[in-house]
Amino acid sequence: MRSHGAGSVSEADIGSEVVIAGWVQRRRDHGGITFFDVRDATGLVQVVADPAEHPIVADLKMEYCVRVKGVVRSRPAGTENPDLETGKIEIGVGELEVLAPAKTLPFMIDDRTEIDEAIRLRHRYLDLRRPRMAANLKARSKTTAVIRRTLDDLEFLEVETPTLINSTPEGARDMLVPSRLRPGEFYALPQSPQLFKQLLMIAGVERYFQIARCYRDEDFRADRQLEFTQLDLEGSFWDRDEVLETIEAVLAAVTKEIRGVDVPRPFLRLTWQEAMDRYGSDKPDMRFGMEIIDLSDLFRGSEFGIFRGALEAGGTVRGINVGRQEWSRSRADAMTKRAKELGAKGLVWMVVQDDGSLRSPVAKFLDDAEIEGIKSRMEASPDDVLLIAADRWRTTVGVLGNLRLDLGRPENHHDLAYLWVVDFPLFEEGEDGSITFSHHPFTAPTSIDEMANDPANAISKAYDAVLNGVELGSGSIRIHDPQVQRQVFEILGIDGETAERRFGWFLEALEYGTPPHGGFAFGVDRLVMVLQDETSIREVIPFPKTQTGLDPMTGAPTWVDEYQLAELGVELTAKSKLRRDATDEETGEDRPPESG
Ligand code: AMO
Ligand code: AMP
Repeated sequence: MRSHGAGSVSEADIGSEVVIAGWVQRRRDHGGITFFDVRDATGLVQVVADPAEHPIVADLKMEYCVRVKGVVRSRPAGTENPDLETGKIEIGVGELEVLAPAKTLPFMIDDRTEIDEAIRLRHRYLDLRRPRMAANLKARSKTTAVIRRTLDDLEFLEVETPTLINSTPEGARDMLVPSRLRPGEFYALPQSPQLFKQLLMIAGVERYFQIARCYRDEDFRADRQLEFTQLDLEGSFWDRDEVLETIEAVLAAVTKEIRGVDVPRPFLRLTWQEAMDRYGSDKPDMRFGMEIIDLSDLFRGSEFGIFRGALEAGGTVRGINVGRQEWSRSRADAMTKRAKELGAKGLVWMVVQDDGSLRSPVAKFLDDAEIEGIKSRMEASPDDVLLIAADRWRTTVGVLGNLRLDLGRPENHHDLAYLWVVDFPLFEEGEDGSITFSHHPFTAPTSIDEMANDPANAISKAYDAVLNGVELGSGSIRIHDPQVQRQVFEILGIDGETAERRFGWFLEALEYGTPPHGGFAFGVDRLVMVLQDETSIREVIPFPKTQTGLDPMTGAPTWVDEYQLAELGVELTAKSKLRRDATDEETGEDRPPESG
């Protein structure tokens, strides 16, 4: 149908006849001459027609799909467009054919217009025509291609695992699928291929990967979706550092492809404890400093009751130097309010004056040694703003870590700071004192004795990859001894009988000569999001759901017919029926689209 891509017509074609096909981007009428741009997947090119000769151009509207045959020529001097790949040329129309007209558009197909997201998702097929979205799709495709190439070179086997399975405990709620053949019974969609990849190790695969769709019914955030894609990987007879090297090779290759830069390797590594102490986060953004400084020893026995009291209660006093800031009373109040929202009891602020004194509501409670100590410890110079919190360790570093992000995080993602966080705690203590796993229950402890005797402080063989403050992925060396696996279930409060019922099939598999193994998974969506400078994961997912789990285009999820439910042995509750009947009456159809 065409001889050239619209974006690939060049000065080399001047004088020759070309055929292009694509969408009408913009039409301008100038004193008897009509200009319009034709856009296809390769780019766009300007087309010129005389309406007297081609009356059909008067009908062209935005996003009409057209085919143009014409001769390439130079644009007249002074009318070139240096911003455009094809800015020096244009095509004079010989023949013009409308392949398909388009309805009036719900929004402009360009990157300049801000469009309500619900409307974009309602017409995602139009949204994806926008250059930025097309670039995101392309980056995603390149990413998975590079992943496959890199891992194939390293002799990893790509293996598909089922998506209709029994539950995999990753910490989120399962999405369930009712079974028609076994009415009343349910499959779970995988939260990850975790147990299947471990079974593949038992099966002797040794080096496995998969670009796997995962499903988690959890609350939405900018970097979460109900369904998302992981690069999932596992290997036998290797240790942590070999896993990290392999993942680094993949991430470096993808970064080179998408950004054209060589990432310095090996990536920086912090232990979980260091990350928390210095940045107040297990996924610190390493593009900037503003580290948390421990001031506790300066205030033991201090006159200032708030600090002394926190220390006496076993807590800590820590601060961050946030540098020069506009610092008014209202800013100080807003920052204190924010600290309280984050769980602090309050926030001490100080502004360093030219004469070296501190302007602060609490300055009068501090003696000279304390003031000098704060200043030297925090490397403070005039005009710097210092923020100090006193509380339990976890609260203090958490609050300061968040203020650090609020005040220091760069606007764009252009610098890339990859980081490994290693030596995570094995368990987390819930609010109620109960113990849950911090990665997943198949993660190996560094010491079985420590796990048994002091679970709250036990360290695991788990590690995370972080990019610009985003958790890209997690992994661990696994438990390969069924006895240890049973012990972990027990510590987690899963009694022997329940463990056998839920995981008996897996515990049995572990009994047949399981090789030592470990692996990793990173979120492909999150990686592409950061590399493409996007702040929402939805920008890099072709057809995402809204924050409330809806697809505004197809209307999913929808009500289904009674007979379908009956076949599945499923019945709606009275409450759900009321909700269904209310929506039916309103619209006479299954469900109203969210917008449009
Ligand atoms: P984890 O649960 O940490 O580990 O998940 C790994 C990575 O998957 C991505 N991810 C998500 N992306 C988008 N939306 C979500 N709702 C979502 N949830 C997770 C993140 C995350 O870091 N089986 C283990 C891996 C292993 O141990 O090998 C696992 O799934 O980028
Ligand atoms: P108050 O005595 O409650 O008025 O607090 C005096 C100052 O100390 C205020 O600026 C509070 O925000 C701050 N403050 C109170 N508790 C803490 C705390 N635990 N850590 C840091 N600052 C605090």
